[in-house]
Amino acid sequence: MAVIAVIDDEHRQRDILKTILEDEGYEVYTASSAEDGLDLIGKMNPDVVITDLKMGGMSGMQLLEAIPDDSLQPAVIMMTAYGTISSAVEAVKKGAFDYLAKPLEKDVIVLTVKKAAERARLLKENIRLQDELFGKFKMDGIIGGSQKMREVIEIAKKVSPTTVTVLIQGESGTGKELIARALHYNSNRKTAPFVAVNCAAIPDNLIESELFGYEPGAFTGAAHRKVGLFESANGGTLFLDEIGDLPLLTQTKILRVLQDKEIRRLGGKDSVKADVRIIAATNKDLEKEVSHGKFREDLYYRLKVVTIELPPLRERKEDIESFVSFFIERYNKEFGKRIKGINETAKKALMDYHWPGNIRQLEFVIERAVLMSDTDTISLNDIKSELRLPQAKGISGIEIPDEGLDFEELERDLIKQAMLKSNNVAAKAARLLGMSYKTFWYRLEKFGIHASVKEDKLPEKRN
Ligand SMILES: Nc1ncnc2c1ncn2[C@@H]1O[C@H](COP(=O)(O)OP(=O)(O)OP(=O)(O)O)[C@@H](O)[C@H]1O
Ligand SMILES: [Mg+2]
Repeated sequence: MAVIAVIDDEHRQRDILKTILEDEGYEVYTASSAEDGLDLIGKMNPDVVITDLKMGGMSGMQLLEAIPDDSLQPAVIMMTAYGTISSAVEAVKKGAFDYLAKPLEKDVIVLTVKKAAERARLLKENIRLQDELFGKFKMDGIIGGSQKMREVIEIAKKVSPTTVTVLIQGESGTGKELIARALHYNSNRKTAPFVAVNCAAIPDNLIESELFGYEPGAFTGAAHRKVGLFESANGGTLFLDEIGDLPLLTQTKILRVLQDKEIRRLGGKDSVKADVRIIAATNKDLEKEVSHGKFREDLYYRLKVVTIELPPLRERKEDIESFVSFFIERYNKEFGKRIKGINETAKKALMDYHWPGNIRQLEFVIERAVLMSDTDTISLNDIKSELRLPQAKGISGIEIPDEGLDFEELERDLIKQAMLKSNNVAAKAARLLGMSYKTFWYRLEKFGIHASVKEDKLPEKRN
């Protein structure tokens, strides 16, 4: 239940309020002056403060102004005598939640306090959710003990408070979106929206209406006004993911927005201010795209004011262990498991793997292993099916030994197998090996193998 502070220099008034509110189930504290009240607020962190306007010493209004302007600010209800309603209105303008006119009426008190307490609850809930969100994207929550990742985090810390455009480059699954979010949630734009667009996922003919929005009648089918993503991100950050996939024409328009800081909806006459920070990401080599004429050079330079290169996981294998513990913890929580760690053989397999899907793939491997493991330790069995280990043996199933092998021996073996499989019918055997009859026959001769329809056993080599 909510905590309430009642501040009044008249003790009868305090007692009445205390009784009424305690009957409603609130936890109530009282103070007989604004000075003591301020103290009480500091100590008890009440959700709601009910204070008299006129008191000896500091007034209710002064108290309102003295309450620290932080996230724990209580909802303040000002009590005032009939003649001074205008001051109460003034108080509301200065941030009080509401006022109560004296003489107080029980029903009005109860209702007003209830509303104030509800607002305080919502505010707290909001702060809790925000903390959770910001905590998730705290820079120190990003894993990266390796030299390369430390450099990345250094740059990210430096640029996050600015509005500078950032280009994030890296293979798929290296954490581009995570860094983009961290940049946003560690900036003073963090309470404004972070809007992510995957440029590769939107068809070319729709991308501009998505980004810039449109006015009714801009094209057939545009019945209502649509606000574009640039406008939705106003005050915040627009994350243009896979920017390398944007059509050239759209690139031109984005460049213009970056320069003019305003956008125009499709079919619209007026421009709208767009205070948007752009973070772009790509797994393509944009410089190469530029040299192939697929990406505008001027836009490229505009975007890469700051470039963050995310190294592939295989180049920072020293981070694998921390990632493993991090993901084990994440999925223990999610699946209600109690996996403690991973054994040495499994760890070695992870270290030896080349991770084409980078961290996303590692996360997936650990998620599955946590789910599947029957013991409290992940073993090779829990992960090996996910590590599509490269086939050292190739399709022949033969691994070339260090000392080399006799190729003719192999060839002879295959020819023999083909003959056996086709009941010694040479034409069939030739087909099995994808050879012309002539070529095959030549080899039969060379290896001294008979072709015979009668024998069902492979004829021996002629000496
Ligand atoms: N340094 C890191 N610390 C913690 N988690 C990470 C880190 N890097 C990546 N991850 C996690 O790995 C997963 C993949 O990251 P993300 O989606 O950011 O990659 P991406 O580069 O955008 O991939 P894609 O190119 O496939 O879109 C996410 O679950 C992310 O939280
Ligand atoms: Mg991504």
